[in-house]
Amino acid sequence: MARASLVGGAVVTSSSGHAADRGDAPVTLALTGASGAPYGVRLLQVLNDAGVPVRLIISKTGWRLLREEEGIDDEAALRERTGDWSRVSIYDDADRGATPASGSTASRGMVVCPCSMGTLASIAQGTTRSLIERSADVALKERRPLILVPRETPYSILHLENMLRLSRAGAVVLPASPGFYHRPQSIEELVDFVVGRITAHLGLDLPLGPRWRSGERE
Ligand SMILES: Cc1cc2nc3c(=O)[nH]c(=O)nc-3n(C[C@H](O)[C@H](O)[C@H](O)COP(=O)(O)O)c2cc1C
Repeated sequence: MARASLVGGAVVTSSSGHAADRGDAPVTLALTGASGAPYGVRLLQVLNDAGVPVRLIISKTGWRLLREEEGIDDEAALRERTGDWSRVSIYDDADRGATPASGSTASRGMVVCPCSMGTLASIAQGTTRSLIERSADVALKERRPLILVPRETPYSILHLENMLRLSRAGAVVLPASPGFYHRPQSIEELVDFVVGRITAHLGLDLPLGPRWRSGERE
């Protein structure tokens, strides 16, 4: 049965009775080396604004993309761009023994945004060679939400097979593919379209992105 609670002003719902699946438990957020760093940065900002606790992990190439696409060189620059960090804990992707690696730690789920095809393939195979891969593996085994936001084009058969495998295992494959039916006027609106879909899948009721109603635009 769905349960609702308040986190920092946002209504959050939880559809499972898993003891660790509480509405106020942290979200694990991973940024990897696919194009689309602005999605990850905006998602972190939105979670911070909503007062949602975040466990943050950024891969080595994720940092490179933050530099190249957002001009964010280090943690200090990321903090400056993403609001209140009082509920953010950041972990080293090389530390496979850190908190997000444990299934017994409370979590409301994990988002990999953006998700490289490399990380996606590793999660699909359960290799757990980094903290990001291990945390995603834990989300699957604990039956918690795992939302993967890939960005690649075109997709190879391997990419498609890995995504199918992950979808069958319970992950939500949510490509960074913004819609245009709301006639976006800015890159920020395109980014918010995708981020709004992610937060909706986390059960967060945040006023982000358009909601389609036939014949009307919000
Ligand atoms: C500038 C740049 C852009 C990239 N863009 C993508 C991309 O859009 N999608 C993707 O799957 N991989 C992309 N890659 C490749 C990944 O970064 C690479 O496979 C890397 O090993 C992924 O490692 P990670 O998943 O640990 O971050 C890009 C790499 C660089 C340097």
